[in-house]
Amino acid sequence: MSEIERPEEIEGGQDPAYVKGAFARIADNYVLTNHVLSLGADILWRRKVGRMVAAWNPSKILDVATGTGDLALELQRKCPHAEVLGTDFCEEMLAHAKERGLGETMVADALQLPFENARFDVVTVAFGLRNMENWKAGLREAARVVRDGGHLLILDFSLPGGVLRKPYVYYLNKVLPKIAGVITKERDAYEYLAGSIDRFPSGNAMLALFEEVGLKEASWTPLNGGIASIYVGVVEH
Ligand SMILES: C[S@@+](CC[C@H](N)C(=O)[O-])C[C@H]1O[C@@H](n2cnc3c(N)ncnc32)[C@H](O)[C@@H]1O
Repeated sequence: MSEIERPEEIEGGQDPAYVKGAFARIADNYVLTNHVLSLGADILWRRKVGRMVAAWNPSKILDVATGTGDLALELQRKCPHAEVLGTDFCEEMLAHAKERGLGETMVADALQLPFENARFDVVTVAFGLRNMENWKAGLREAARVVRDGGHLLILDFSLPGGVLRKPYVYYLNKVLPKIAGVITKERDAYEYLAGSIDRFPSGNAMLALFEEVGLKEASWTPLNGGIASIYVGVVEH
């Protein structure tokens, strides 16, 4: 690993300095690498989220850890009358979001959002919560800025159940970092990705976390056999 040290696990979360540095390094290739490695599935996952959010008819949407803006741009398309704001603590990633047409962006730490309580109808986090220092704190802070009756939606990687689990974990740890390393020259960042997916709560474990932070009507939609999942909760302050 170059000048950035591999993080120690922090109570289930990730070291923010490592995460910021890793995303700054892969920012220029992030969008293409995602589409190649997921064979375009990530595009369909974000479209599904876009349809779900549009059905709630929100006026104010916050996309936390928006990165290069993939989900926020989809939300802009699907909810043309809504205000869509994307925040991230990595300026290199946000620069791409702006360049790609995301209207409202702001540098902000997801664990200390610079917004008053209940400011948004919907908060989304796609592939971001897993990278945070403390998952429960990330969920709590996201829920804090959602109005009563509004929605918090998490899209992230998960582990499939049953016979698919073992080969998938092998692919994640052994194959994916090699391929991604060739494309991005940042193999370490993808070894980190594999480890972070292994440790992140999947399925019912995530629903339990939603309940712990007080989210209501928690539900879970596995995607492509469970390699990713959408989790939704309703906020009640
Ligand atoms: C895998 S990218 C996901 C980007 C985008 N949401 C997407 O769907 O492609 C994860 C993003 O989370 C951001 N991130 C991680 N921890 C964060 C935190 N504590 N505050 C703000 N952004 C954070 C990283 O900077 C990175 O841009």
